[in-house]
Amino acid sequence: MHAESESMETLAVHGGERRPGPDGSVVYPIYQGTVYSIEPGTGYHDLPYIRLSSTPSQRYLHDKLAALEGAAAAVATASGMAAVTTTLLSVLRAGDHLLASDCLYGGTHDFLTRHAEGLGWRYSFVDVHRPETWTAARTPQTRLFLVETITNPLMRVGLLREIAGFARREGLLSVIDNTFASPVNFRPLRAGFDLCLHSATKYLGGHSDLVAGAVMGSDELIGRVRTALNLYGGSLDPHTGFLLARGIKTLALRVRAQNDNAAALAGFLAGHPQVAAVNYPGLTSHPDHEHAAELLSGFGGMLSLRLRGGEQAAKALLDALRLPSVAPSLGGVETLITRPATSSHAGLSAEDRDRLGITADLIRISCGIEAAQDIIADFDQALAKTQP
Ligand SMILES: Cc1ncc(COP(=O)(O)O)c(C=O)c1O
Repeated sequence: MHAESESMETLAVHGGERRPGPDGSVVYPIYQGTVYSIEPGTGYHDLPYIRLSSTPSQRYLHDKLAALEGAAAAVATASGMAAVTTTLLSVLRAGDHLLASDCLYGGTHDFLTRHAEGLGWRYSFVDVHRPETWTAARTPQTRLFLVETITNPLMRVGLLREIAGFARREGLLSVIDNTFASPVNFRPLRAGFDLCLHSATKYLGGHSDLVAGAVMGSDELIGRVRTALNLYGGSLDPHTGFLLARGIKTLALRVRAQNDNAAALAGFLAGHPQVAAVNYPGLTSHPDHEHAAELLSGFGGMLSLRLRGGEQAAKALLDALRLPSVAPSLGGVETLITRPATSSHAGLSAEDRDRLGITADLIRISCGIEAAQDIIADFDQALAKTQP
């Protein structure tokens, strides 16, 4: 049952909930059983079995995930990477070609560069700001266009409506990884994308204590993803699914606080004499600010920066900060900080990193829900210590 409200606050709490729940429970319980009694003649993919993502707790979570993105259907996966790989494996065949953003999450980028050839797929990395590169790269075998809402770590926002429109006109399936924005800041299916996916490890879970993924879309497409997932084996365990559903209930509150904190911190850093650059789509100086303001309902909780003192200063800042943990993930209630060249993008060649602007001195911040003045005060004291 999907909540009727369109407000993310209400959807996050009530979307997909059973009213009344089993035995009147207000909170949907964890059905940890592996298997359930069946009627004779039940088809394989409908057997209630955890790997087939068809048990009561899993079906409840799927309804909640679908409600969040305004989708007809959803399926949860064992990680964000399981969502990415299973989605691609469910729709691409040997001989197919795909267009992919040239600024994808490192794991997705590595999956394509290391595994696509073995699967018989060809791919072209394209610039999500330059439609002429999409047209030039499209071939008669192209089936799919894969992008991300806000890219890591420069927080670029591509021409997303144009990409969805191009894919529709060309008969391609459009797939978007909406992890960085979360449905609070962007609803891709409304903007015309066919499939939306998440690393639910990040904002959806929100507490840095679970690994999960999700794919949302039409009944037909999610049916295909689920059938592939059943065979590749990346279903989500009900226990983790319970934690994910619990996290989702506070999604809107958390993400709005994270949007506000990132905006406040970006503003402070942009005015600081030791800071050379701040990448945050909410700043008017950001190259995508104008169209991001039209597309997004919030600019997100992620930002990145470079210091005038270069790599040494970046290392010293990380040492001097007291509030954030130095850790590579994102989307949790606690502020995290990392240098992408040594973490998320360490797998790329130095040449590729330079081409993408992921310099050794770049620092990425995932804002938590702490008080903005405390985060800013901590950066203020740490920058004072790292003054050349
Ligand atoms: C945008 C994006 N997509 C997918 C993933 C993969 O998610 P997971 O670590 O849950 O497999 C990540 C992880 O950082 C990510 O940032």
